[in-house]
Amino acid sequence: MNLEQYRYFLKDSIRKTIDFSRTDQSRGIKAPPIEKPYSLDSERVELINADWGKLFDITLSKAIKNRESRRNYNNEPLTLTQLSFLLWATQGIRMCAEDIAFRNVPSAGCRHALETYMAVFNVEKAKSGEKLKEGIYRYLPLTHELLFEFSENDLQEKMIKATFGQIFAGKSAVTFIWTAIPYRMEWRYGLDSHKVIAMDTGHVGQNMYLACEAIGAGTCAIGAYDQDYLDELLHLDGEDEFAIYLAPVGKI
Ligand SMILES: Cc1cc2nc3c(=O)[nH]c(=O)nc-3n(C[C@H](O)[C@H](O)[C@H](O)COP(=O)(O)O)c2cc1C
Repeated sequence: MNLEQYRYFLKDSIRKTIDFSRTDQSRGIKAPPIEKPYSLDSERVELINADWGKLFDITLSKAIKNRESRRNYNNEPLTLTQLSFLLWATQGIRMCAEDIAFRNVPSAGCRHALETYMAVFNVEKAKSGEKLKEGIYRYLPLTHELLFEFSENDLQEKMIKATFGQIFAGKSAVTFIWTAIPYRMEWRYGLDSHKVIAMDTGHVGQNMYLACEAIGAGTCAIGAYDQDYLDELLHLDGEDEFAIYLAPVGKI
């Protein structure tokens, strides 16, 4: 493929070529789940709901003005409250009906084709100082919980390797990894899905940057990563679900 062919991806020319009456939604196929299913007996951590405006009071203009990519973090843990806030800001649900969930970020057709995984390194679970055990977790937006996925030896080193040696991906309190489940979007838009999934991911990243400003934390988007290695690390098949964007977060 030449440059011009790749640029086609940024356009919406494909729309005119698609017969939207043939998409799975138009053919009456049931919508895929809003949230990736999990076993009900798996280990979960309840997250915090709060009046975030009172707790983390920062003006929007200040958050926008101060926002920058931050790659150096101190050893201070994130609290579970702060982690709850970041998840609420990036993927939290504000209104839900049977097959549709409106979140705090926009999404094309409200299809929300993303899941949030976290490599958790330094998060304080309680005031006593007790920490979440290190490992891979996933956000459950419908119940505002963390799902413990699995522990992994040498996770810090593996996260650095997964990002081609970007040290801050393993020196964070938490590294967020967003994955795409493209079918959620394809169910409605067929071949016209993939550009808007990428656009949706950008909204999530920007909310993460701004929310970090509100809690004295820093983040830096990561778009350069080893696709196969990271998908394997997260136990994803790499076809129906795969990593798409990362954001290490730590106190500054
Ligand atoms: C889509 C995207 C991918 C990025 N990927 C990386 C990355 O892999 N590594 C990195 O250090 N910074 C990455 N960045 C951060 C940019 O380098 C940064 O936004 C840019 O230098 C401007 O700096 P600022 O964010 O402080 O304004 C990425 C930013 C975006 C939006």
